[in-house]
Amino acid sequence: MHLYTIRNIHGLEAQLTNFGATLISLKTLDRHGKLADILLGYDDVAGYEHGTYYLGGSIGRYGNRIAMGKFNLNGTTYHLATNNGANHLHGGVRGYNKVVWEAKQLSGHAVEFRYTSKDGEEGYPGEVAIKIVYTLNDHNELRIDYSVDAAPGKDTVINLTNHSYFNLTANPQNTILDHVLMLKASRFTPVDSGLIPTGELRAVKGTPLDFTQATAIGARIGADDEQLKLGKGYDHNFVIDRTLVTTGQQSLVMAAKVYEPTSGRVLEVETTEPGIQFYSGNFLDGAEKGKDGQVYNFRSAFCLETQHFPDSPNHPEFPSTTLKGGGHYASTTVYRFSVR
Ligand code: GLA
Repeated sequence: MHLYTIRNIHGLEAQLTNFGATLISLKTLDRHGKLADILLGYDDVAGYEHGTYYLGGSIGRYGNRIAMGKFNLNGTTYHLATNNGANHLHGGVRGYNKVVWEAKQLSGHAVEFRYTSKDGEEGYPGEVAIKIVYTLNDHNELRIDYSVDAAPGKDTVINLTNHSYFNLTANPQNTILDHVLMLKASRFTPVDSGLIPTGELRAVKGTPLDFTQATAIGARIGADDEQLKLGKGYDHNFVIDRTLVTTGQQSLVMAAKVYEPTSGRVLEVETTEPGIQFYSGNFLDGAEKGKDGQVYNFRSAFCLETQHFPDSPNHPEFPSTTLKGGGHYASTTVYRFSVR
């Protein structure tokens, strides 16, 4: 495992590794100008090899769930690993967060990772060549650019994301319940008991999933709500307010904003993707040793995973995740840091 460090003129610093093209740490400023690491992670490669939380990892070939690990493409049914009950999650048993990537430091600001995923890997059809570039610019933005070239011949599905866990207090012994979240999403994709979308795009209005006005994550997390019970908290894909197109890349739009009152840290998320999974760390259970020997407890971090909708290969009405043989896919997500 190799470590790569990128910095900007304000002292922000990100550390990455070629194992899983993983974001290991991210130091950002609080309102007093003090730098601290706001990401969950492990101290050594063994942590990343054995970890089950996907901390900071690059997720693929298909981020999030595919029902029964099964989908049909051009008349063929493909069977993927079922590693989440009956369903497929985050690329399978050995997803992209568990493979070694080729890495190249492009500059003091940027690192590039490449991985060729073979035809048949974890059951997916077709070979794809993936490139991920992380850039930390002087506007305090960590930008992640994904690009994928599919080998000619076979179509496939693709849905890449990053699974960083944030705690903007920079102390994961605090829960994230007092972080104030805004999501630019007036709809979400309700799920069944396996966290598979039913296909409905449901309005958030009048539900505890309405974050269109900035609201503390913990304000309604215990509400008597069917969707919150199914997710054991928030674990839902939100439909970012934008004109949905069925195929092709879109422009960057603001998807989410999080404010942490004690440190003053603000995180904004922009993406070209149609969806964002807001996950409130409900499966963090104190079972794994993280940085400095700490354990990560229930709701000690949140994820904002930009993505296409879960189980899209089985929902032709959702924006398509099909990548044609010989085709190209690109996606960008920006995490912007400031203070208030
Ligand atoms: C995603 C899923 C969650 C959980 C985490 C990893 O965010 O939606 O249900 O599996 O990854 O623990």
